[in-house]
Formats: sequence, structure tokens, C-alpha cells
Amino acid sequence: MRLVLGIESSCDETAAALVSLGADGARTIVAQRIASQDEEHRPYGGVVPEIAARAHVVRVMPLVEATLGDAGLGLGDVDAIAATAGPGLIGGVMVGLVSAKALAMAGDKPLIAINHLEGHALSPRLADPGLAFPYLLLLASGGHCQLLRVEGVGQYRRLATTIDDALGEAFDKTAKILGLGYPGGPAVERLAAEGDAKAVPLPRPLLGSADPNFSFAGLKSAVLRAKEAGIHADPDIAAAFQKAAIDCVIDRTRRALEAAGEVTALVVAGGVAANKAIRAALEAVAESNGLRFVAPPLALCTDNAAMIAWAGLERLGKAGFAPDALDFAARPRWPLDPDAAPVRGAGVKA
Ligand code: KG4
Ligand code: ZN
Repeated sequence: MRLVLGIESSCDETAAALVSLGADGARTIVAQRIASQDEEHRPYGGVVPEIAARAHVVRVMPLVEATLGDAGLGLGDVDAIAATAGPGLIGGVMVGLVSAKALAMAGDKPLIAINHLEGHALSPRLADPGLAFPYLLLLASGGHCQLLRVEGVGQYRRLATTIDDALGEAFDKTAKILGLGYPGGPAVERLAAEGDAKAVPLPRPLLGSADPNFSFAGLKSAVLRAKEAGIHADPDIAAAFQKAAIDCVIDRTRRALEAAGEVTALVVAGGVAANKAIRAALEAVAESNGLRFVAPPLALCTDNAAMIAWAGLERLGKAGFAPDALDFAARPRWPLDPDAAPVRGAGVKA
């Protein structure tokens, strides 16, 4: 059996987790703790990087100790220490990574520097041992919206990305426009359940375009105009936004499936995967393509350290594994597919 300690600090959650992989392939989240910073950031309607970094400093080591304590284990019991090393808010990433380095040094354990996106991309395999490579992954979070062919640990081919906003970002901005506060995704989903999506006409950017890329900036602007018009009920706007976003996601995912070649499953991960309406729509796409549909449990969708520990276990189990150097630098940007061509406007936050 192998046991890895994971640390996550790339955005507004500080998290630690212990995950084990048995000789029989059994995966177990032995213990995990997550400290959200929602309260700290709520007054600002979004994550303030400096506040986030300071909150991580205060929380990370007590969280690691508490997680080990929950499991009745000590640092000596773990086989490696995995930490998010990017991409993300660089101050926070540095806090988690430097803590992991200190623990690795003190405990004489291998350090595994994990790409946060790889954590999301592999997390479905933590929950579902039967999920085999290659699979088509929709990775949708606050900072990213990509379709990737996940071909193996460390092997990711990007088929599509957003040319402007990420999907979670569009949810968060819609929440802000509707005065729903932060974090926005779950609030928009709740309000949308009470509204009529047909009551507000909204655009579906890039629908039907030949490449499978995404665009959400125009949809967000249309939401703003609909709100400013003052004639629509907020639940109707939320419902129309969510429906338009889903129509785009479905169309783009279908296009990516045509381009992906053979895959074993359609998989969704990242914070937006917590959205039940999006899950249901993707499940229908998988079904109509004769594919399995896999989505991690909700708690594994949003940022957490179990997915980081799991990515560490996947790396540890790969032939030719080598630990990362203790001077591994935190990376604010770190594409999963370094060969993917940049797209116009991608990563430019509006
Ligand atoms: O993966 P994640 O926890 O953090 C990032 O790495 O970005 O994703 C957070 C994003 C936020 O934009 C949040 O609004 C969105 O995921 N999100 C949702 C839902 N829950 C979280 N979006 C839509 N519906 C939800 N239920
Ligand atoms: Zn994330």
C-alpha cells in the first residue's frame, strides 16, 4: 500500500489530504480537511490574491497536522508529499509548495510538484478505479475551460480551450450581475432552478463552429444587458444564462468527441462539474455516443487536496518516477498540453 499527503493552496481553499492506493488497486481518502476562505473574500465579490496568500499561511500547517491527526498517522507513515505547484494565484501556490518542501525535507520524503489541472484531470480515477485511458475530459473551473484527451498520467492533448472567459468565471460574473454574491456558481444554479430559460433570449457564442473552442464573454455581456433592461426576473435571467452555457458546452463537447478519436468515456471535472444541470446534459451526450459518463462526487469537483494526493499517487506509480527537486519553482501558468497552440484572447481576464 502507498500513502501520499496532498496539499492544495492555488486559489481560495487551503486543503490537506491523505490518500492511499492498495496493492489491489483500492483507492481510499484516509483523511482530508478543507478550510474555505469564502468569508474573507465575500466583501470583495471575488478572490483577493493577497488576502488568500495570508490566509493560506495561517492555515496550511495546522491543517496538515489535523489531517494526520484524524488518521492517527505521522509524517513518517507517508510515502511522498504532493503539493500544487501551479497554475494559480502565485502567492498561495508558494505557501503550499514551500510547506510541502519543508515537510519533505524534515521527513526525508520525496516531493511531488503537481499541476493543479492534472489534479482535476485525474480526480475521476480516484473515485472510479474502472476509468481507463484515454478519456475525453471537460475541465471547467473558475480559471479554465478546456476539452482534453487524457491519454495517460502526464499525457494530455488539448482539443479546445476558451478564447476569452472560463465557464466558472461566466457563472461568477453572472452571479455578480444578479447580486448573488460570491462564490457564484452554486448561487446561479439554485436561482436558475426557479426560472424560465425561454423568457430571456441570450446568445450562444461559437455554437456550430468548426473547432471545439469555447467563448463566454459575449454571453456574460448579454446577461448584463438583460439585467440592465430591467424587464426580466432574476431567476429567468439565471435560467436563461445556464441554459445558453449548457447549449454551448454540449455543442462544443460533441465537436470535440468527433475530433478525439477513440475514448473510453466522457468525463467532467473542475468546480463547474458540481453543476447538476451540466452533468445531466453531458450524461445525455455520452449516452448518445455510446460512451460511459464519469463525474467525480461533488466534493471532489471543487478544489481539494485529495485530488492532489491522488495525482501524486499516479505519478509515484508510473515507471521511471523521479521526485521533484526541492528548488522546484511555483508556476503561475502551467499548461497541461505544452504543445497546444495558443488561442486568441485566452487567459485574458475581462
Ligand atoms: O475548480 P474550482 O474549485 O477552482 C478553480 O480552480 O477555479 O472551481 C471554482 C469554479 C467557480 O467559478 C465556481 O463558481 C464554479 O467553479 N462552480 C460552479 C458550481 N460550483 C462551483 N459553477 C456552476 N455551478 C455550480 N454548482
Ligand atoms: Zn481548481
